[in-house]
Amino acid sequence: MARKNLDLLLTVEWKDDSVVMIDQTKLPNKLVYVKCTDYKQVADAIKKLVVRGAPAIGVTAALGLALAAQQSKASTISELRTDLDAAFKVLRATRPTAVNLFWALERVMAKAKRAKTVEDARNAVLSEAKKMWEEDIQANRQMGSFGASLFRDGDVVLTHCNAGSLATVAYGTALGVIRAAREQGKRLSVIATETRPVMQGSRLTAFELQHDGVDVSLIPDTAVGHMMARGAIKRIVVGADRVLRTGHVFNKIGTYQVATLAKRHKIPFYVAAPLSTFDFESSPDEVVIEERSIDEVVKVGKKRVAPKGVRIFNPAFDMTPPELITGIITEKGVLKPPFEKSLKAMLG
Ligand code: MRU
Repeated sequence: MARKNLDLLLTVEWKDDSVVMIDQTKLPNKLVYVKCTDYKQVADAIKKLVVRGAPAIGVTAALGLALAAQQSKASTISELRTDLDAAFKVLRATRPTAVNLFWALERVMAKAKRAKTVEDARNAVLSEAKKMWEEDIQANRQMGSFGASLFRDGDVVLTHCNAGSLATVAYGTALGVIRAAREQGKRLSVIATETRPVMQGSRLTAFELQHDGVDVSLIPDTAVGHMMARGAIKRIVVGADRVLRTGHVFNKIGTYQVATLAKRHKIPFYVAAPLSTFDFESSPDEVVIEERSIDEVVKVGKKRVAPKGVRIFNPAFDMTPPELITGIITEKGVLKPPFEKSLKAMLG
């Protein structure tokens, strides 16, 4: 399915009783959409990074549960709950690090558990998933309104990975803040890192910012220190897959390097993340860092770039400790260190 209208950059939506999403594995070369009519297809799409980015994964999984509820042939509420439990298990096993996935699935399941009839449960699951879809856009806009004031006219802002519209339903977290600052009339330009090995920076961030007419340049991940040392970067903003109550931030592999270099060069380092990305329970060593296929590292396109038999590690995320973070932008305000204290104050 190919759509011509480039203005409709909605990452995922519920349409004609199915889940329609941009196939991000095809970007930047083709803007094509895939249609999932079965929750197993949704799970597969999350695993294969057809849809990715913490908030987008959460909302997509919730819509996947809505599909499971529609698909189910259950005639009693307990049969429907059994079918939903099965779908829940498949969807929650797709990726381990982004907490939004578990948050979204549990929130939808809680609605299903309260329903008394099959029809009520089906409606409740779908309406909760749709509500989360809308809340995601709203939260991004609110983050934007709080975060925009942290940027000055003329700033060159570095971002890592893709925390844009494509990582959310629309608008983005880190890129949402940049969009909001620009909407306030500030002239910001963006430096995107390539984000090896899956290239979310070059394939997705450069694509969506260029699509929206934002001044964007691309650099190899290895050029970050050099650009900072030259004074070419004024601010940094990234997204997150999980934020702990202590302010430890799990995000795309390489974020920790960027934050460490930012500290050395005294450049403010911000994280933009909705509260659905916060994990109030885990400690840093309890968070599972996804290890992805070595094929992502040994090949560039179809070409092999590492000798056969060499040992390879391919962690997809890393942890940035709170002492490297200047502020965490949420939909309820900007958290400043010490994060545990400011989080408590913000949430009462
Ligand atoms: O492996 P991905 O592409 O799902 O990783 C995405 C990231 O690390 C993003 O920075 C993060 O999910 C924040 S998205 C608003």
